[in-house]
This record gives sequence, structure tokens and C-alpha cells, in this order.
Amino acid sequence: MGESQSSAAETITVAHDRGEYQVTVGSGLLESEPLAAALRGRRVFVVSSEPIRSLHGRRLHHVLSQANSVEWMMVPDGEAAKNLDTASQLWNRMLKLGGKRDSVVLAFGGGSVGDLAGFVAATFLRGIDFVQVPTTLLAQVDASVGGKVAVDLPLGKNTVGAFHQPQLVVADVDLLTTLSQRDLVSGLVESFKMGVILDASLAGAIETRLAELLKADPNALIQVVAHSIRTKAAVVERDAFESGERMLLNFGHTLGHAIEVCLEYGGLRHGEAVAHGILFAVELSRLRGLSEGDAARIERGVKALPLPPLPSLDVDALLDACSRDKKATEGSLTWVLCPGIGRGLTVNDFSHAEIRSALERFLC
Ligand SMILES: NC(=O)c1ccc[n+]([C@@H]2O[C@H](COP(=O)([O-])OP(=O)(O)OC[C@H]3O[C@@H](n4cnc5c(N)ncnc54)[C@H](O)[C@@H]3O)[C@@H](O)[C@H]2O)c1
Ligand SMILES: [Zn+2]
Repeated sequence: MGESQSSAAETITVAHDRGEYQVTVGSGLLESEPLAAALRGRRVFVVSSEPIRSLHGRRLHHVLSQANSVEWMMVPDGEAAKNLDTASQLWNRMLKLGGKRDSVVLAFGGGSVGDLAGFVAATFLRGIDFVQVPTTLLAQVDASVGGKVAVDLPLGKNTVGAFHQPQLVVADVDLLTTLSQRDLVSGLVESFKMGVILDASLAGAIETRLAELLKADPNALIQVVAHSIRTKAAVVERDAFESGERMLLNFGHTLGHAIEVCLEYGGLRHGEAVAHGILFAVELSRLRGLSEGDAARIERGVKALPLPPLPSLDVDALLDACSRDKKATEGSLTWVLCPGIGRGLTVNDFSHAEIRSALERFLC
């Protein structure tokens, strides 16, 4: 991973098995040359949803005016877009409109748009380029980097997908000024998760600058977005295909994804579900030696965020959804634990009975 820094923007280079790509973080980046260069003279398919296009679509005017052709492909807003029906509509539309192997998909939205657009780019004509312009904090700190792209099935989150690296990621914090408080918090959860499991100084930065972050202060956001991306990039460079260390990024996600499935992908934002998943992972970590001081600090960090309460959910339904988690192997579930702030580990030796009783205590 390489870095270059100026007061206006930071560029992080992420290496992967077929080359590398750059992630730029800063303000006023949507008119910048790297984005224009990635689209210039090409057939561009912009995947977005109506609310995002109407809020920020004009910001792309300058770079899109340099493309050979531009098609806006609007998808349902939020998680509702992440399914095979929508993917199929996009594949058909791109083919009809003359999409070729040198066409490029531009993902202009949050993590839902990015995951869907990346999946469509990964599979259309066996893979075409895609560029990520993430418009939510969650997508900037996490989803847009690392090349995991997917859609959901009714029974399982992100269960059909691929690894497909973006050609470029442009994380412009100017886009975040219109985010709802819930979406801002949802992104902070993923970033705090990364700090807790990988880098105590990132967790500390979020704790220290929380008031500014909750007001979408651009300087605080640039610091946390860049720090999160550096942290994630280092992990995905070492373990692109999630065979080991990258699994740590799923801290809070085994239960978090199960909550989303049980709520049929509605009711809670992804980051909100993960926040509850983190609190449960802290309980499991306590059983395996996480100190009371660190456990309380993680809980304080999560509870300092304005989060909706966990709706009442059935233990059996949650356990059933957990059993379809992608990290599960035959016979056991994998849990990501935190043995101390800044460190993570995976375990798969909790018995079904231990998990059930921990979950029953957690839910009451
Ligand atoms: N691929 C990965 O590595 C990875 C990592 C983390 C999360 N994810 C996925 O990301 C998804 C969640 O992403 P998300 O939290 O960005 O949610 P989202 O994409 O569903 O967007 C949430 C809401 O934010 C709105 N929005 C987007 N940009 C906006 C802006 N600039 N101003 C105002 N509103 C805006 C959208 O219209 C939407 O209603 C989940 O599906 C999750 O599984 C993927
Ligand atoms: Zn997540």
C-alpha cells in the first residue's frame, strides 16, 4: 500500500493480484482528473438511485461530459436494489444499449449501489471495469474498497457475489453533507469496528472527534475516512480472498447479518444491525478473556452513537440465519472476537448451546 498526502486530498494505492488501484479521499474530488481520466472517451453506465442522483448527480456533469456515451441506470433505493432481479435488468439493459468489454460501470451511491454495480460489472461479459464513487460514509470507509461485490438472496445476505477490484475509488466527503444522521452513524459503526479489531488509534480518533463527526465536519470526516481506508487496504492487500485475516472485518457481522435477514432487510440500516452484532460479539469476547475495561470501552463507543433499539427477534430464527453465514463451515460457526482493543481473532469452537444461551441473555 502506498500513500501520498496533501492538505486537500489523500491518495491510497491498493495493490492486488492483477495490479493496483487508487483511492482518493478529500473534498472537491468529483471534478478531478483521475475520475475524468477513468471515464474519458468510454461508454459509461452510471448505476445510481433517484434520491442520490437528484441530490448530487450534477456534480458528475464535468467528468461525464468527457465520456463517449453515458447511460444512467436507476435502481431501487437502498438494500432493495441488491438482488438478482435488479442485476438481471441491468445486464439486459447494458447489452441492449451496446455495452462492450471496454465499457465501464460507475457506481454512484452507497454500499448497496456499489455492491450491486460491482457484481454486475464482475459478471457482464465475464467482467468489465468499474469505478466507485461512494456517496455514504459507510461506502467510503468500507464497502467501496477491497473488491467484495454481491447481491442478497431472501435467505442470506451477500450470498451471491464475486471478488472484482475497482479501477478507481473516489471518496469525496462533500457528498456526505446530505446524509441522514442514521446513515452517518451507520458508517461510523463500520469504522469503529475496524478500529476495535485492527487499529486502536482509529477507534481513539472516532471517540475523540465524535461530536464533529456527528455534525459531518469535513476535516474530521477526511481524517476518519482516510484512516479507515488505510486500515482496510492493508488487510485486503494481505488477504484479498478472505482466507484468513480479512475475516476479522466481519466483527459484529455474524449476528448483524442474521438480524438483517430476520428483518427482511428493512427496519435497521446495515451499520445499525452491525452495532448490535458488535455488542453481542463483545459478550462472546468476554467469555474468552476480553478485559472488563476494554469491553466497557467498546460498549461505550457503540452506545455513544444514536442507535435505534434492536426490535424483538426470535432466538431460533436468528440462530437459523447465523447458520447460513458465509464464514460457517460444516458443523460450526465462525465468530470474530476481540481479545483486546486493536486486535481480533476468529474462533469456531463455541458450542451451539453456548451461543444459544449467550444470545438469550443478550436479547432479554
Ligand atoms: N462490499 C463490502 O466490502 C461491504 C462492506 C460493508 C458494507 N457493505 C454493504 O453496504 C450496504 C450498506 O451500504 P450503505 O450503508 O451505504 O447503505 P445504502 O447504500 O443502502 O444507502 C443508505 C441510504 O443512504 C442514501 N444516500 C446515499 N448517499 C447519500 C447522500 N450522499 N446523501 C443523502 N442520502 C444518501 C440512500 O439513498 C439510501 O437511502 C449493505 O448492503 C452492506 O452489506 C459492503
Ligand atoms: Zn458491514
